[in-house]
Amino acid sequence: MSDHAAAQKYAASSDFIANAHVNLAQYDAMYAASVADPAAFWAKEGQRIDWIKPYSRVKDTTFKLGEVSIKWFEDGTLNVSANCIDRHMLTRANQTAIIWEPDSPETPALHITYAQLLENTCRMANVLKAQGVARGDRVVIYLPMIPEAAYAMLACARIGAIHSIVFAGFSPDALANRINDCDAKLVITADFAPRGGKKTGLKSNTDAALLNCDDRVKCLVVKHTGDQTSWVDGRDIDVKAEMASAKPYCAYVEMGAEDPLFILYTSGSTGKPKGVVHTSGGYLVYAAMTQQITFDYHDGDVFWCTADVGWVTGHSYIIYGPLANGATTVMFEGVPTYPDAGRFWQVCAKHKVSQFYTAPTAIRALMGLGPDWPAKHDLSSLKLLGSVGEPINPEAWSWYNQHIGHNRCPIVDTFWQTETGGHLITPLPGAIAQKPGSATLPFFGVVPVVLDPATAKVQDAVETDGVLCIADSWPGQMRTLWGDHARFEEAYFSQYPGYYFTGDGCRRDVDGYYWITGRVDDVINVSGHRMGTAEVESALVAHPKVAESAVVGYPHDIKGQGIYAYVTLMRGEEPSDALRKELEAWVRNEIGPIAKPDLIQWAPGLPKTRSGKIMRRILRKIAENDFGALGDTSTLADPSVVDELIANRMNKA
Ligand code: PRX
Repeated sequence: MSDHAAAQKYAASSDFIANAHVNLAQYDAMYAASVADPAAFWAKEGQRIDWIKPYSRVKDTTFKLGEVSIKWFEDGTLNVSANCIDRHMLTRANQTAIIWEPDSPETPALHITYAQLLENTCRMANVLKAQGVARGDRVVIYLPMIPEAAYAMLACARIGAIHSIVFAGFSPDALANRINDCDAKLVITADFAPRGGKKTGLKSNTDAALLNCDDRVKCLVVKHTGDQTSWVDGRDIDVKAEMASAKPYCAYVEMGAEDPLFILYTSGSTGKPKGVVHTSGGYLVYAAMTQQITFDYHDGDVFWCTADVGWVTGHSYIIYGPLANGATTVMFEGVPTYPDAGRFWQVCAKHKVSQFYTAPTAIRALMGLGPDWPAKHDLSSLKLLGSVGEPINPEAWSWYNQHIGHNRCPIVDTFWQTETGGHLITPLPGAIAQKPGSATLPFFGVVPVVLDPATAKVQDAVETDGVLCIADSWPGQMRTLWGDHARFEEAYFSQYPGYYFTGDGCRRDVDGYYWITGRVDDVINVSGHRMGTAEVESALVAHPKVAESAVVGYPHDIKGQGIYAYVTLMRGEEPSDALRKELEAWVRNEIGPIAKPDLIQWAPGLPKTRSGKIMRRILRKIAENDFGALGDTSTLADPSVVDELIANRMNKA
């Protein structure tokens, strides 16, 4: 028996199981039904949300290369904003929809009721309409974690505009590229984004970005901190002032199930970010169902997902999933360590959080600061913990279990992606016993298959490893890449024809549990943020002193993976610490702080094949400080560069 199969299993308490939405017998029966007849299964589950015109066609999907097409509930019509707000008005108008917890604990939290959410969303929708935004138009949202981000998303959905949120940590260049790629009519930003007591100038970033965009792009500005910014008359609009004078109601638009709801840019294995498109009906059904079932959310619970709305986790599990279910969802502007390392736990205690969902990188960072911080706060309201973004290492899992969950909260390790809309592989807490580090078993309707990466053969044995693909569609799946369906097919369906390729490797143990082993492509996962190594490389080579660069990931205690850059300088340039700092700052500026290399190694030469292809496998090994088994280096044009790189490696840990 492998170590994995032997790993200790943790089941929820019998009380938890008795109250859970799904127990083991139900999971088995529902899962079997969901894969035996997906159309019948989802026809029923589609009823979780309100439709204006009911659907009759449930599933029309094919993964056949050259014809990939994914449609769910195709002839149904609905409005996502109405599902997240209006339909709760009869029963929950005065219930809190969003608890907004500001960066500073000194600033009072806001409890926004569903009635207030309706009014503010409508006012924002009317402001957008007054600026000429109409159904199908793209709106870029570049905001801190403030209530206006929620209003903006829901206002777009209300009038049929397609939002594309750009994480507020991204640079002006990254923002401009996204505005241009989706040809946005308008960008919504704020004066400043306070985080951890510091303020980032979002308006000045937006000003810089807009220099590289069409002059017609309008800019709505939320005066959030109230600090002074520059102002371009005729282009910049004070949203709060406009909202105050706008009408408090705005009718919602009837949208097709397959009309796009949002575009979210994510990293791929080439330099250009991919505009992942999610549509309305299937996405909402899937986000709502997973939010309720994976987290075992019940009426009256307070749900807190600590992600930023700039990532898919924030879309599905701060906004769309919870609000579609009429939940109370927490939106946190700050960081886990400000004003001190107890902030997460202080917020859990203050708002009596029931389900807490975060990333392993945060847990590892807080674990390093010791158990005294959580011990200061009353965590008795917690019923369940969640993890997302990367594999959770057993030490972090145990700390989370012991010091946060007090050994009584199930931990759901949810594996999914920007592309998948919601959880793909995850324990359902009342049904599936957890093994620390394993995402366990598939969600309903998800058919994982493990393929041999070399032969593309499906591995039938239960206990196996290989690359993870999905054999059939589920409603939350992305539909295309914005403006580039050919790239969509190429990126996800061409390597293993007939399957959706996740880009991840995995092992399946004797119990059928899945253990995600990480990306097998040139995508790395830094502090739960997804980064294409090619993006960092193209930023580096854009620097005038850099001739060539190769970027790989390496194991990092807190971040999961760190960014390791090999840099070859232009002839005549000398390596120096000052230049290293300059390059770090350069990448921060080009992409954003999350892309700053952790280690830069000067590389007079890079290992290349005779045809000039960089042998990344070797560079990865050196970065991992594991160069004992470099494999065959005989095909290298100049094998001696390898010895030089090993001798001067930066990660000697
Ligand atoms: O490698 C997997 C990892 O994160 C990737 C997706 O990144 P992104 O699109 O940014 O979405 C992150 C949040 C949904 C995956 O290809 N990943 C995500 N969750 C897990 C994970 N790896 C292991 N275990 C997880 N629970």
